[in-house]
Amino acid sequence: MSQECVYITTPIYYPNDLPHLGHAYTTVLADVVSRWSTLLGYETFFLTGTDEHGLKLQREAEKRGVSPKAFVDQMSEVFKGYWRKLGIEYTRFIRTTDPDHEELVKRVIAELWSKGLVYPSVYRGWYCAACERYYSEREYAVVNERPQCPIHQRPLEYIEEETYFLRLSQYRDYVLKVLREDNVVFPRQYAEEVASKIELEGLQDLSIARPRERVSWGIELPFDTRFTVYVWIDALLNYLTGAGFAADRERFYRLWKGSVQIIGKDILWFHTAVWFSLLAMLGLPPPKKLVVHGFLTVKGQKMGKSTGNVTSIDDMIARYGSADAVRFIVARVANFEKDSEVSWDIYDSIYSGDLVNNYGNLVRRVTSLALKHLGGVVERIVDKAHAKVVEEFVVKAIEHYNNIRISEAVKAAMDIAHETNAYLNREEPWAKEKPIKTLYTALESIRLATLLLQPAMPTTSKQILAAIGVEPEKGLKQFVFGYIEKYHVKESPIPFRKLPKT
Ligand code: MSP
Repeated sequence: MSQECVYITTPIYYPNDLPHLGHAYTTVLADVVSRWSTLLGYETFFLTGTDEHGLKLQREAEKRGVSPKAFVDQMSEVFKGYWRKLGIEYTRFIRTTDPDHEELVKRVIAELWSKGLVYPSVYRGWYCAACERYYSEREYAVVNERPQCPIHQRPLEYIEEETYFLRLSQYRDYVLKVLREDNVVFPRQYAEEVASKIELEGLQDLSIARPRERVSWGIELPFDTRFTVYVWIDALLNYLTGAGFAADRERFYRLWKGSVQIIGKDILWFHTAVWFSLLAMLGLPPPKKLVVHGFLTVKGQKMGKSTGNVTSIDDMIARYGSADAVRFIVARVANFEKDSEVSWDIYDSIYSGDLVNNYGNLVRRVTSLALKHLGGVVERIVDKAHAKVVEEFVVKAIEHYNNIRISEAVKAAMDIAHETNAYLNREEPWAKEKPIKTLYTALESIRLATLLLQPAMPTTSKQILAAIGVEPEKGLKQFVFGYIEKYHVKESPIPFRKLPKT
């Protein structure tokens, strides 16, 4: 097991503004996957970062009257600060302005050029700077006689200019094969969505250069310095830089074999049609898994800065009192197939129902009973019937985590807490003098639920394990019911405070 690697990536975000809950959604989910694989004992590499070049950033810096570099220097620190607040434990924070990345992009583009995969031509089309992409006639709607971006609902800009194209069209059959036959894209519905689009519209060559006079803020095209590299090509290649493609090829292959890329469905096309082709051009296979999630929506609309409907990460942390609670809520509402509506009502009821009244209450009850009735020392006597119930949920949760079914995994942990609260109500240990069996069984249930919640709530889990005197370990063997010989409960924490009444 220790030889296997897991390489987890998030999209690299445009640092044109503060990250919001939509960005936190992907990043927290990726962090949960990363922490789960670390918990199992895999060598884990978790990459996130910022996508710093291109027209969008150039314009934002201009608007603020600062240089693009000064602007992204400042904003990438803001992103790091938010990830710190949210307990995101990345291995590398990549910036597309990092020298090793700029170097890699130039080398890759030069290689594509030398392989004859890039050719000069003219592009005419409609562009959305917020998406940093062109839209075809089939893709945009016409509103007030002007083509409009389907994501941002803003007018597109007409652009006609000299550029260089990448021969994506040669990879049509290859991409279709990966989508349909290789089990890369998860959930499968997204693979079919892209495959149908390609069948209907074909796979067109992609413009990968921008005239410097229009987009100066970018990496220079190595064979024609009048141009900069299109920001999406620059951005996608971050996944290669991050895994050390240029620095250590052997290590790169080891990581790439275990790659799990997590994205939102808005950037599905780039991460399939474009990315799989680009990788193939470099002689590389697609990632092991491309995990795609739906949007966080507000009244059915994608949360986003340009729509003006963002939920701030700070507000979430302030409302629920800790980053862990926010992480749990995000994990609990994670939905890959569908969009997930953001609502304080839903989030409050998850917080109160799952964390305060169910799991938190169980921890408080059992630890205080153990201290009061047994002085905190609880020897191993297992109630087999309850152990069996818990074990079934543990098996389910592990399976869910391994299949990146995060919401189902944390739900199974909550089911353990729920069943154990019911078990206590039936057994009434408070009415007994030495309720060793009931309390040992309940403590084991807490330990297992807590281990399962550890990827989602790392800080709280650590505190709770410490309160019941358990040292965190790595690997699967600790997931056996009855693993602990004797508990030494140290304190009775209240991990989650009630929400103030409104
Ligand atoms: N820079 C590109 C990605 C390049 S990756 C090689 C980009 N950046 S972005 O800042 O716009 O972030 C997009 C990603 O943020 C989405 O794919 C998704 O993971 C996350 N989300 C941003 N808003 C979101 C929602 N409202 N809902 C869910 N995820 C959202 O695109």
